[in-house]
Amino acid sequence: MKIAIIGAGNMGGAMALGLAAGTQVRPEYITVSDPSADNLEAISRRQPAIVTTADNTACISGADIIILAVKPWLVQTVIDELRPAIDFSSQALASIAGGVGIDQLATMLTGKPATPATPLPCPIIRIVPNTAIALAESMTFVSSRASTPELDNSVVALFSELGQAMLVEERLMNAATALASCGIAYALRYVRAATEGGVELGFRADQAQRIVAQTLRGAAALLDADGSHAEAEIDKVTTPGGLTIRGLNAMEEAGFTASVIRGLRASMPK
Ligand SMILES: NC(=O)c1ccc[n+]([C@@H]2O[C@H](COP(=O)([O-])OP(=O)(O)OC[C@H]3O[C@@H](n4cnc5c(N)ncnc54)[C@H](OP(=O)(O)O)[C@@H]3O)[C@@H](O)[C@H]2O)c1
Repeated sequence: MKIAIIGAGNMGGAMALGLAAGTQVRPEYITVSDPSADNLEAISRRQPAIVTTADNTACISGADIIILAVKPWLVQTVIDELRPAIDFSSQALASIAGGVGIDQLATMLTGKPATPATPLPCPIIRIVPNTAIALAESMTFVSSRASTPELDNSVVALFSELGQAMLVEERLMNAATALASCGIAYALRYVRAATEGGVELGFRADQAQRIVAQTLRGAAALLDADGSHAEAEIDKVTTPGGLTIRGLNAMEEAGFTASVIRGLRASMPK
């Protein structure tokens, strides 16, 4: 499989380097384009086999999947530039641009207002990664239109090399963004709150943050290890009449669960 990535900024660069380090696509089958020579050099220094170019049209030649990794307001310009060079019979167009849905991508590509019923000239794939993609720990969502199960599976397999990836219906993409992209901030706000608590209990701030971060890693690892329900793991540390249940109940009295759910709802576009 050959991949073209348009835009070698934070996300495009992380994708190129992360995919090159994986097994799904060989580094020499990844081409990246960007107007900034510095950005391209930064990629070449770390993985010389990745092909880099300042020419977007040359970048997509021979690619199976074209991934747009430019800012949302540049997507139309880039699509207009690429359109004459896209081989609609063999190439799929994917985008990670924040907030740009498949209807919008289809409208930009076809030049006509698109709805889910609009016939598309090629598969369109929307990808929502989060900032942890730089450490190959992204939670990435994939949704598509005019695609095939094989193509969807290939994209999920690609992004599984950069963390975890999940195919979802497009109607869930805003919820996915709230949970996993805004979610990075929400998880880190918990880290800050717990760190402040740790300082009050007597730890230095750097110690407290390290303790909280490793405790979160441990909690996530426990969930991953046996796929168990969070509540089952909580039960293991809540001795009847013990200290943990007192702490949990005090947090709930202060509105912990309600606050988190309210925050997630507030993260959904109106
Ligand atoms: N950052 C996140 O957490 C995150 C998460 C999910 C999705 N996204 C989405 O990912 C996309 C990229 O975000 P980012 O943070 O990686 O932005 P970024 O660091 O600014 O990267 C965008 C890159 O595109 C380059 N570029 C500008 N015009 C171009 C053109 N016409 N052709 C090719 N490349 C061009 C830019 O070069 P110059 O710097 O020289 O202009 C820059 O290197 C955005 O749409 C964003 O919404 C971001």
